[in-house]
Amino acid sequence: MASLPSPVAAAAAGITTPYSSSFATVSSWPLLSKKCSIKSAKQTHRYGVRCNAADSDDQKPIIESLNSLDRRNVLLGLGGIAGAVNLTSIPSVGAAPLVAPDISKCGTNPLSGFKAGADTPEGSDCCPPDSSQIMDFQFPKEEVFRVRPAAHLLSPSYIAKFNLAIKRMKELPADDPRNFLQQAHIHCAYCNGAYTQSSSGFPDVEIQIHNSWLFFPFHRWYLYFYERILGSLIDDPTFGLPFWNWDTPAGMKIPSYFNESSSALFDSKRNQDNLTAVVDLGYNGQPSTLSDLDKVTNNLAIMYKQVVTNATDPLLFFGGEYRAGTEPIRGGGSVEQSPHTPVHRWVGDPRELNGEDLGNFYSAGRDTLFYCHHSNVDRMWSLWKTLGGKHKDLTDSDWLNTSFVFYDENKNLVRVYVKDCLLTSRLGYDYQRVDVPWLNSRPVPRSRKSGIARRSMGRVKRTTDINFPVKLNKTVRVLVPRPKTSRSQTEKENEQEVLVVQGIEYDSQQYVKFDVYVNDEDDDNTSPAQTEYAGSFAQLPHTHKGKTKSKTNFRAGLTELLEDLEADDDDTILVTLIPRSGCGDITIDGINIVYV
Ligand code: C2O
Repeated sequence: MASLPSPVAAAAAGITTPYSSSFATVSSWPLLSKKCSIKSAKQTHRYGVRCNAADSDDQKPIIESLNSLDRRNVLLGLGGIAGAVNLTSIPSVGAAPLVAPDISKCGTNPLSGFKAGADTPEGSDCCPPDSSQIMDFQFPKEEVFRVRPAAHLLSPSYIAKFNLAIKRMKELPADDPRNFLQQAHIHCAYCNGAYTQSSSGFPDVEIQIHNSWLFFPFHRWYLYFYERILGSLIDDPTFGLPFWNWDTPAGMKIPSYFNESSSALFDSKRNQDNLTAVVDLGYNGQPSTLSDLDKVTNNLAIMYKQVVTNATDPLLFFGGEYRAGTEPIRGGGSVEQSPHTPVHRWVGDPRELNGEDLGNFYSAGRDTLFYCHHSNVDRMWSLWKTLGGKHKDLTDSDWLNTSFVFYDENKNLVRVYVKDCLLTSRLGYDYQRVDVPWLNSRPVPRSRKSGIARRSMGRVKRTTDINFPVKLNKTVRVLVPRPKTSRSQTEKENEQEVLVVQGIEYDSQQYVKFDVYVNDEDDDNTSPAQTEYAGSFAQLPHTHKGKTKSKTNFRAGLTELLEDLEADDDDTILVTLIPRSGCGDITIDGINIVYV
């Protein structure tokens, strides 16, 4: 392992890791290669992948509300003139990475993001034990490698091992940072406002690790330590955290051993209707009336849409920028929105005030299934990077240098950086190779014809004729002009066409979801398995400092979608937003098309 290039250098240079090259041997890979025109020497991609290595200038924010790079240049310039000015002591909004929280200041603000009930925490209840000693992270030195297995394929002995590890974790003293509830509190503390950005110089701004580019790296680190704690409790350094393989038909139910009430893996706070049901990756907040077969078809289509079509650029995949002094307002990445968020809500118990456990951030970690869910989310990061072309980690130094703190298996508090988690091989783990059927699930158009938008003129308003903000208390249809039509293949490779639903203000105390369709004349019986489905906006309840409204953006890739609908020459598209859950109060500031 010592011969591996540093992850940062490797990512910057676009070096294929041993991990991704071995992934290329999965059976579905050749088919994907064909569709995506991935070539091993010079990588291209039919959805608009640039051939040269991405650098941070490629990854401009889609909505330029805060031009942070310019601000940083200004600050650096001032430093040059003033000479003696210590720049590190001047907190500059949006021009620095988030610094790991000072855990001694945890819980000074009230927690928020849930309705207070009998079991909900308050004040410092989600805070870890304090430690004055912080160690810097060291890459694992053991010779062993952990393979994270598919949860539905576990052998009885592996299930027993997993069960024992969780049982021991639950039996640890309540103030041991490795204790099961302490581990659950990590999620609550980082997601429900227990930490502020005081270490970055912004004591009044909260830390929130969802809805931005911190989503993937934060959860990767969280699981890394969780897995090692479990392994050490059963003295098995090869223990790998199983992944809930909800992206393959055989893995779409909650593995049955989670439902045995005598098991440590059991949690009574789950949706009782879904214990043996096929997961609904597009969960709308109420029971689905679809057959299992239709659910499976939709799930595979959602996977393809979110990992392939809607994640052709690193910012689309990881989520928007989030720097010191700011809130994550630019929007979460495609996979975070869906399937990640709907799965939380689908498992959470509707009998509980906040959909506990998985249905709310503060309580999600109290269900072991959460970690298996996130093991699969993390696997999506690894899979996405094998798609070639622009499918690379971000190179923005503020992302790379963001830090977090976690307790390790020896109860040491460890500071980690995003830049050190980019290669799972360096962290000593990998995923069991299983089929990835959704790579072949490119959706099919309902009606493949152009001119749909033109026929709607007169009946549907153009964005330029609408007084934004508009409400989403009912289905919204608008005609959106396209700044560019009939682009050449090279232009498409250089720039992806992206639909932006901008300034979505929503009630952040409930599960919110709406679906976006393009050029769908008939809004009845829509399905994610049709090309016209562009994606879903989905949010778990979460608030900032008790504010009940949040504002963010939604993005969806259009290049492939419009090609498949044969609407690439049209100068206007018909966009339909269909409210599915908690949309009564949503307002939207604008809908437009940008090129990234
Ligand atoms: Cu931190 Cu799935 O949530």
